[in-house]
Amino acid sequence: MLTLGIETSCDETSVSVTEGRNVLSNIVSSSVHLHKKYGGVVPEIASRFHVEYILEVLDKALKSSGKRLKDIELIAVTNGPGLVGALLTGVSLAKSLSLSLRVPMIGVNHLLSHLYSAFLSDGELPDFPFIGLVVSGGHTALFYCRDSYKQKLLSQTQDDAVGEAFDKVAKILGLGYPGGPVVERMAKLSKDRERVKLPKTFLGVNSLDFSFSGIKTAVLYYVRASKNKDDEAADICHSFQETVIDELVDKTMRAAEMHKVKNIVVGGGVAANTRLREKFTDAARFSGGVKVYFPERRYCMDNAAMVGVLGEELYKRGQRSDLYLSAEPNLEVVNA
Ligand code: KG4
Ligand code: ZN
Repeated sequence: MLTLGIETSCDETSVSVTEGRNVLSNIVSSSVHLHKKYGGVVPEIASRFHVEYILEVLDKALKSSGKRLKDIELIAVTNGPGLVGALLTGVSLAKSLSLSLRVPMIGVNHLLSHLYSAFLSDGELPDFPFIGLVVSGGHTALFYCRDSYKQKLLSQTQDDAVGEAFDKVAKILGLGYPGGPVVERMAKLSKDRERVKLPKTFLGVNSLDFSFSGIKTAVLYYVRASKNKDDEAADICHSFQETVIDELVDKTMRAAEMHKVKNIVVGGGVAANTRLREKFTDAARFSGGVKVYFPERRYCMDNAAMVGVLGEELYKRGQRSDLYLSAEPNLEVVNA
C-alpha cells in the first residue's frame, strides 16, 4: 500500500512515500537554523516555515519516490501532540489531499510514531509486547506496547523533556542549539570524569517517572560558581550526560522487568545519542535476555516516514480518520 506521510508537529517539515517498511522517499526540511539565536523552537516561526515550504517538500517527496499523487492510496498525518500552529499545516494538507484524491486518511500520534521509526530499518523487527521509551525535545515517556494499536502510558517526565535538558545545558555553556549533538561531542573530550558531581533524581522507590529540571538547575549553579566554565565544559557535559542516561536506562529496564517484557524500543531525537545506545546495550547484556531496538539514526529526529509506517499499520487494523480530524497539541495515547 502506497502511503503518503506528513509530519509538521515541531520544526521539521517532512513528507514521505512509504510502502510498509520500505521507504521510497523521506524529505525533511528543518527550520532549526531560524531558531538557533533564540536557543529553542519559536512556535510562530516554525508554523510559518511549514506553510511556506510544505508544498515544495511534498513535490520533492513525490519526485524522489518516482510516484505521482494519483498513485497514493493512504494519507497518514501527525495530528498531535505538538505545536498547534505547526500541526495545523500538516493536518490541513492531509485533509485537502484526502478529499481531492478520494483516498483515506489517518491521524497518527507523534510519540508512538517515534517508536515505530524502529520498524523502518532493514534489520530485525521488535516483537510485541515491548516497552517503548520516547526521548525527544518535547517528551520523555515510557509505554507498554501490546500491539500497534494497543498501548498504555506507564510514566512520563514531571517537568522538562530529556532533549530539552540537553538543549538547556548547551545554552548555559554557550554551546549553541540544538544541544544534544554538541553536548555529546563535548562529553567525549572530558579529561576528568570524576570532577563534576551532579545530583540524581529520586521520585520514590517504585516510580518510573522522570525529572530533568533539577539536574539542569544543578548545572546552572555549577557553572555560575565555576572560575573557568570553558575549561570545565567537557567535564560538565560528561557528568550531565551520564546522569540523565542512567536515569533513562534504569527506569526503562525496571519497566521491562516489572511487566515481564523482553523487548525494548527507544525512539526520538535523543535516541541518536551513542552513549545512550552503549549504556542500553550494556544493561541488556546483563539482564538475561532483554533486547533493545533503536531506529537508524536518520529516522531518530522528526520525519514523515515513521508516520507513514505506523499509519499504514493502523489502517490495516481498521482505523480511519474523517475530515473532522483536529490538530491536538496535547493528544494523549489512549490506554488499552
Ligand atoms: O524527536 P525530535 O527531533 O523532536 C521532538 O519531537 O522534540 O528531537 C529533538 C531533540 C532535541 O532536543 C535535540 O537536542 C535532541 O533531540 N538530540 C540529541 C541528540 N541529537 C538530537 N540529544 C542527545 N544526543 C544526541 N546525539
Ligand atoms: Zn518528535
